[in-house]
Parts: sequence; C-alpha cells; structure tokens
Amino acid sequence: MKTKYRTHTCGQLNKNDLNKEVTLAGWVQARRDHGGLIFIDLRDRYGSTQIVFNPDFNDFKLAESLRREYCIQIKGKVKLRPKGMINNNLSTGDIEVEVNEVNLLNKSEVPPFEIDERIEINEDLRLKYRYLDLRRKNMLKNLELRYRMTQIVRNFLDKHNFIDVETPCLTKSTPEGARDYLVPSRVNPKQFYALPQSPQLFKQILMISGYDRYYQIVRCFRDEDLRADRQPEFTQIDIEMAFIEEEDIQNIVEGIMKELFKEFKNKDLKLPLKRISFHQAIETYGSDKPDLRFNLELIDVDEIVKKSDFNIFKTSELVKAISLEKEISRKDLDEITGWAMRNGARGLAWIKVNDGKYDGAVVKYFKEKELKELTKKLNVKNGVIFFVADKRKTVNEVLGRLRNYLAEKYKLIDENKDELFWVVDFPLFEYSEDEQRWVSVHHPFTQPHPDQVKKMTTDPGNVRSRGYDLVWNGNEIAGGSIRIHGQEMQSDVFKSLGISEEEAKIKFSFLLDALKFGAPPHGGIAFGLDRLTMLFAKTNSIRDVIAFPKNKDAVCLMTNAPSPVTDSQLKELHIKLR
Ligand code: AMO
Repeated sequence: MKTKYRTHTCGQLNKNDLNKEVTLAGWVQARRDHGGLIFIDLRDRYGSTQIVFNPDFNDFKLAESLRREYCIQIKGKVKLRPKGMINNNLSTGDIEVEVNEVNLLNKSEVPPFEIDERIEINEDLRLKYRYLDLRRKNMLKNLELRYRMTQIVRNFLDKHNFIDVETPCLTKSTPEGARDYLVPSRVNPKQFYALPQSPQLFKQILMISGYDRYYQIVRCFRDEDLRADRQPEFTQIDIEMAFIEEEDIQNIVEGIMKELFKEFKNKDLKLPLKRISFHQAIETYGSDKPDLRFNLELIDVDEIVKKSDFNIFKTSELVKAISLEKEISRKDLDEITGWAMRNGARGLAWIKVNDGKYDGAVVKYFKEKELKELTKKLNVKNGVIFFVADKRKTVNEVLGRLRNYLAEKYKLIDENKDELFWVVDFPLFEYSEDEQRWVSVHHPFTQPHPDQVKKMTTDPGNVRSRGYDLVWNGNEIAGGSIRIHGQEMQSDVFKSLGISEEEAKIKFSFLLDALKFGAPPHGGIAFGLDRLTMLFAKTNSIRDVIAFPKNKDAVCLMTNAPSPVTDSQLKELHIKLR
C-alpha cells in the first residue's frame, strides 16, 4: 500500500501503531471544531481515521479551510484517543493521528448530497453524481461483494477445468426474446451488427470446437422494458459444457451456490437442491419462479363452485382460490380487489369466513353445504377466500401475482429463510397471441425431451423441453438447457417456430453448418450476475450493484447517454434520420 502519497490506508491504523509517523491520504468526511482543536474524519475506501489539528499546528488557517470532500494528504503521529473518545464501532476507533503537515491535494465543491449511507437520497440525483454516490459505504460494499463473488466463481470454475473464452460484442442477433441493439457498420454501408443478447451461439460453437468446459463473465444487451431487476446491459456468468446431461450442469451450479452461500451467508446449502416441475410451479403457485418462503397455494375449487348459482363461476373455464387465515377489513378487501383488477383480473370474488359464518357478495349463490366444502378444502376458519375465474392461464397468472402481493402486504415472508430450487420440465414452446405463432420458452436451441420429439408437429404446446431455471426466493437467477446438437432436429424446431429455411439460413447458417461437423452433445446455463449480487447484497434493485447503471428510461444520467450525434457521423454511417 505504501506510495509517495501514503504509508497506510484510512482503515488500517490501530493501537499497535502508537507513536508511528504516518502519512494518510483521503477525503474529508466531516470536520468538527472544538475550541482550538479541529477534528477531521478522513475517509478512503478502507475506512476512516480521526485526525487532529492542535492549536499550535503551523498552518491552522489551512486546517480551518478544509471542507467536506476536500482531497487531502496529512502527515502525523499516531496517538491513543482520550478515554471518552474511543469508538468501538470503528477499526481505527482507539487512535487518532496528530497532524504535523497537511497538503491540499484538491478542493471540492459542496457535494449535492452528504456522503453518508444512512441518508436516503433521490435515485436520479445519485445516478447523476454517481462518482459521489459510489463513495458511500453501502455502494462500495456492494461493488466489493460483486467482485468477491466473481472471484469465487472464477476459482471454482478454474478448479473444474473451465476456461474463460471471450466472444464478440459486434455480432449477429441471438434470439433470447428481446429486441436487439443495433450498431451500423461504416465500412459496410447499410449493414448492421447486433449487440449480443447472450453469447449463446458462440458458446455452442466452442463446444463443437472441442472446448468442452467454457465460461465467461460477460455483458449482454437486450432492448426491453426495464424493471428493478432488468437493465439494458447486464452481466451473465455464462457456462457451457459438452458430453454432459442436465445433472452435470446442475451439479456445477449447485457447487457454485454452495460456496457463495457459505462465504456470504455462512449457511450450508443442502445439496442436491429440490426440483419442481414447471407444471407444478404454475398450478400450485401461479409462477415459474415462485417464492416458496410462504405457502398461500392456489387451490382448484372448480368442482365445488360449479355447483353454485353464480353464473361467472359456472361458465368460466376454471376457478381457483387462495385463502388467508386473517381478519381483513372491508377497506383492505376493496384495496386488494382494486389491485387485482389493475393486475389482470376481470374481477376478484371473496368470501369472509368467521367460525362458520360467511360474508361477501357471492355468498348468496352458495348453499351452506358448498360453503362448508369450500372452507374445508381451503382449510380456513377465520379468514378470507379469494377466487379468480377465467381461462386457466389467466387464473394462474393473476392468483400468482395476488399471492406475492398478499405475502408482501401482510408480511408473510420470513426474510431469514432461503428457498433455492430448480424448476424443470419446461414446455418447449408457448403460443404468442401477439405474434400469432409458437415461440420458444427458453430459446430455439433447447432440446425437446427425446420421447416428445414426435409431438413437435402434432401437439407443440405439450412438448417438454430439457430446459431448467434456478430460482431463489422468487427470482429467476439462472436459466439454461441441454441443446440440440443435430442439424436435422434444429431445422425441425425452426420449422415449428415458423422460421422458414431461408430465414434460418440468413440468421443461423453458421450454426447449422457447424452442427454438421461432429457436434457433441452439450448444454449450459447462464446466471444473471446482477440479480445474484442484488440478492446477496439484500437490496431490491440491480442498479445498486452495478457501478454505472441506466435509469428506468434506459438513460445514463451521468453521461447523458443516449444522445444525438453529428450530421457528419450519420453521413459516414450512411444513415438519414426521419
Ligand atoms: P436467459 O435469457 O434466461 O438465458 O438469461 C439468463 C439470466 O440472465 C438474467 N437476465 C437479466 N438480468 C438483468 N437484466 C436483464 N435484462 C436480464 N435478462 C436476463 C436472469 C436470467 O436467468 N443464453 C441463455 C442461457 C443458456 O441457455 O445457457 C440465456 O441468456 O437472471
């Protein structure tokens, strides 16, 4: 650490250093004037050290002029703090440095916010002055955590024979379900590169080249609507292996998670992790990334409510319910109903149950016997039953969302619990109403289960794939699959997706060609590093674990990107703006 500027960091000195002559450099965190004595907390990445200017200090004027965030260097002697001033919460809390020389390295304007992680600051302001925001301890902690996590991952993968291979950023489109970011080529007029949505095709090609264990910590670009857990550019821990099956990849991933849990949560993960099927996840929890820290299961009450006189229940494709053993006020019930209507429900019927008494607008349509049957099935004594009647897909989706909403509203989540598990047996395709065609649930390179291949043409909606997701406390933190390694099957899948032969050639001929040259069986997975870090850091936005993120409008408030370019740049790129 010793340089011309400093002998120690601001987090280093303690009682063992008494009477040493030291040099420190850092930023003025705070200044306190105590009748002739000036105390300054000097801060750097490593911590904070109290420095003292005595009244007889030769440049007291300069000391008095020091303000918050000035960058200074001091020389002085390490002393024990007077008794009442010892701070046990600080590694340097026993000592202070009595200054005998100070050098102003740089002044600072008054910062737009205090560098103090305990103060809540508007996020736009934080993002505009990100360099100051990053000085705050919580941000530093998050970025250090992120770095230490990737070190563990790299070491783990290195030990298991993986090699890190870089793949291009200027490339062709990879279909991961989002829009591409395009980059015009100056040298090739009217031609565009796409920024990769993931290195999917390159990592498969590397398998074909015989690099049977690949990884990369890699930036991916997706032009999609942003949320707290989505950024237009984000980082994946990207993994691919050859001569393997699902379990081999899952074992590697579980090994990584075990080390991370031990290191950062001091928890011993029990392996192998639980597996639940996509079908079970959707039908029981209404989500393919359910939060299993609480119950609130979706119960099929279709058979019972079909016996009632309530027309909507009688005529809907499916009715399911969730129940909450809780006294809920009328006002809250109205609020919950409103929320459900804004989140995909056509209506939300409820029945209040109180020791055999029932209340709610739909009660009159039921006979006592049916109500009893309902409360028995839902196991509710004093609480509320919420019903959604609609098409199966909508019922599950709406109740799945309601489940999360209720858990949050009524604080049903045990924050100390961790539920990490695999979701397996995804469908290969799902029907997109928007596009009016079948689309891939994972991506088009995912292999169908061997016994399902025949159904690809006859019953595409019911083909199971060899895809898997890793879910942690309701977040999808990784997703992957066993890939198609035969050129014919790959062409068949393209056909099922309505991708014509010409289109496939234009987009993926390199892959289809490569598959002809002895492609080995292979598969892989990618973690969302930002999400994973967010969860270990216990924040609720991935922006808090990315040094320079974009805001919700995909703008970097610090650099003001994106921004207009000059006419001459456009001309060079053969582009005319409309
Ligand atoms: P997938 O699209 O599921 O798979 O992405 C893998 C993981 O990346 C994270 N992720 C994101 N994180 C932040 N912002 C985003 N916009 C974003 N999009 C995705 C998620 C997700 O689980 N090539 C395949 C992987 C494979 O098959 O090997 C892929 O990219 O945590």
